[in-house]
Amino acid sequence: MTYSRIIGTGGYLPDRVLTNTELETWIDTSDQWIIERTGIRSRRLAATEQDTCDLAEQAARKALEAAGCKASELDLIIIATTTPDRIYPSTACLLQARLGNHGATAFDVQAVCSGFIYALSIADKFIKTGTVRRALVVGAEIYSRILNWTDRSTCILFGDGAGAVVLESSPNPGILSTHLHADGAYKDMLTVPGTAIQGHLQNGDGFTKMQGNEVFKFAVRALSNVVEEALVANQLDSSVIDWLIPHQANIRIITATAKKLKLPMERVIVTVSEHGNTSAASVPLALDVGVRDGRIQRGDILLMEAIGGGFTWGAVVVKY
Ligand code: UT7
Repeated sequence: MTYSRIIGTGGYLPDRVLTNTELETWIDTSDQWIIERTGIRSRRLAATEQDTCDLAEQAARKALEAAGCKASELDLIIIATTTPDRIYPSTACLLQARLGNHGATAFDVQAVCSGFIYALSIADKFIKTGTVRRALVVGAEIYSRILNWTDRSTCILFGDGAGAVVLESSPNPGILSTHLHADGAYKDMLTVPGTAIQGHLQNGDGFTKMQGNEVFKFAVRALSNVVEEALVANQLDSSVIDWLIPHQANIRIITATAKKLKLPMERVIVTVSEHGNTSAASVPLALDVGVRDGRIQRGDILLMEAIGGGFTWGAVVVKY
């Protein structure tokens, strides 16, 4: 049996910190409201001159270094992003050029906040079929550029960043299972509706629109179901989960999922307070934080989950 093993992780956050207190001076909100409703205290913003590929490159280089792997040894590069640098080529191809890799399969995945879970799952399938030996999977976002900074119901929630993993095929576990879902019936609940036609943005604008309360309720339900599905598929009791690495959208959603799993919050990697919701970057960033601060150890059982626009949602179980 061939498994995909995570052999290196990396993360990158831009320098600029945007606190709730600073947001109070821009819009009608308060530090207290944001902390109580979301758990977010601050988030990072990319500099004007940075693009998504810059963030992805920083995270990717750290993951490659941790893995002891050269970019030329990669057979597959996938970037999950909602905020690509260009309509095309894909950000994965842009990153491939920066890293100096020639010839690997490279493409982007668009599943919004679930993008990294989707990309990890796709890379796992490539490795399991023997097509690929080493893969780089990145979640990278400059989400701040698709926010209306006068809309207090969305702009307080998101941040910029990138996270990455290097996977390698191995006879030892590895990614144990992946579970992906989508339901396009919910397409308007969380969306950036605009599209480029004849050089102009049409059919709406380029800003995030969200029915927050409805998204919240769906997220709690869908994530509870998908973590249960992941445990059943592996015949695992939740007590064997060493670390829950959830999508960092809202501390109340994270707490609800942990409660469903009967996991104490001490076994949940939480970065939402300082990162905000970095969309496709949130899970790999949280994973990297847990690995680098020594909480996540080799052999630990990890459960990652996310939900995003679409809706899309999913989970991955990993023996790290
Ligand atoms: O990655 C996946 C995508 N996103 C999510 O998972 C987000 C899911 N949703 C949420 O996290 C929550 O719904 C929010 C944090 C967005 C909102 O929290 P809520 O408890 O659902 O608040 P609400 O939308 O029901 O609004 C409650 C009140 C409203 O005022 P009224 O109508 O009761 O007078 C809002 O206008 O809070 C008001 N409000 C704010 N007040 C201060 C909304 N945004 C703000 C704000 N500051 N930033």
